[in-house]
Amino acid sequence: MNPAKTILITGCSSGIGLCCARGLRERGYRVFATARRPKDVESLRAEGFESFRLDLADSASIHQAADGVLEATGGQLYALFNNGAYGQAGALEDLSREALREQFETNLFGTHELTNRVIPAMRRQGYGRIVQNSSLLGFVALAYRGAYNASKYALEGLSDTLRLELAGSGVYVSLIEPGPILSRFRDNSLATYRKHVDSERSVHRDKYLATEERLQKPGAAVPFTLGPEAVLKKLILALEAKRPKARYYVTFPTYLFRGLKRILPDPALDWVLRRI
Ligand SMILES: NC(=O)c1ccc[n+]([C@@H]2O[C@H](COP(=O)([O-])OP(=O)(O)OC[C@H]3O[C@@H](n4cnc5c(N)ncnc54)[C@H](OP(=O)(O)O)[C@@H]3O)[C@@H](O)[C@H]2O)c1
Repeated sequence: MNPAKTILITGCSSGIGLCCARGLRERGYRVFATARRPKDVESLRAEGFESFRLDLADSASIHQAADGVLEATGGQLYALFNNGAYGQAGALEDLSREALREQFETNLFGTHELTNRVIPAMRRQGYGRIVQNSSLLGFVALAYRGAYNASKYALEGLSDTLRLELAGSGVYVSLIEPGPILSRFRDNSLATYRKHVDSERSVHRDKYLATEERLQKPGAAVPFTLGPEAVLKKLILALEAKRPKARYYVTFPTYLFRGLKRILPDPALDWVLRRI
């Protein structure tokens, strides 16, 4: 097995992670497809993947999975795709410290811990790719998405710094910036919204009706939604380009808002974002 073709992916139970695991395997990669629930690890193994349980909110499982992968590859790993995450919906004034902490435990701290676990192997071998699945909401804000926004903005900052610190090591860091993608993302958001938001007692009660409708809508909830293969395409570029870019944009809204953010002053951009 060519060590340059090994990749560890988080959050492979559904959506983008599962699609990328399958797509990269077809392309000849040795894919370590991880998931946080044992039943999903079983399904991934039944599909023929090498799979470990990896819950980003649980340090022990991060260490066990990373060690398991490195043991299986003789200590080498070409790439890490930090994909696993969820979106905590709800107005910021309705979200407790605990809700925000949980969001960061998974989307940022677990991702950071896993990354740090594999960097020494990448530095030793003198090459590697770290690809972060961020979001359009990693660089523009939307109302009722504050916890998720904050976690993805933080991931952007962390990745930009990491890129500077790894310069010259042969290890490249890229961010993928998807807009709306078909996956189980909204079902999972609905569950954490119900867990943490008391909509009946909120000043935002009326707005929450729209949030609940959006999260329960089957199929694409907004225009310009793409399938997860659109992310796979950009992931392949980040993995295989000789000099990968710092950022790969996916979906029309992402390109649009990247442009608007560059040209509009904050009040004008806020005016647009308040209408979404
Ligand atoms: N869908 C979109 O519109 C969109 C847009 C921009 C960015 N993204 C990003 O794309 C990535 C993948 O999301 P998706 O759209 O494919 O949604 P998804 O279908 O909900 O997949 C998310 C994956 O992350 C996993 N995950 C959640 N909490 C985890 C934890 N504590 N430890 C490990 N894994 C965990 C989920 O596992 P469980 O099944 O166990 O919950 C699932 O496998 C995320 O980083 C998301 O922020 C998505």
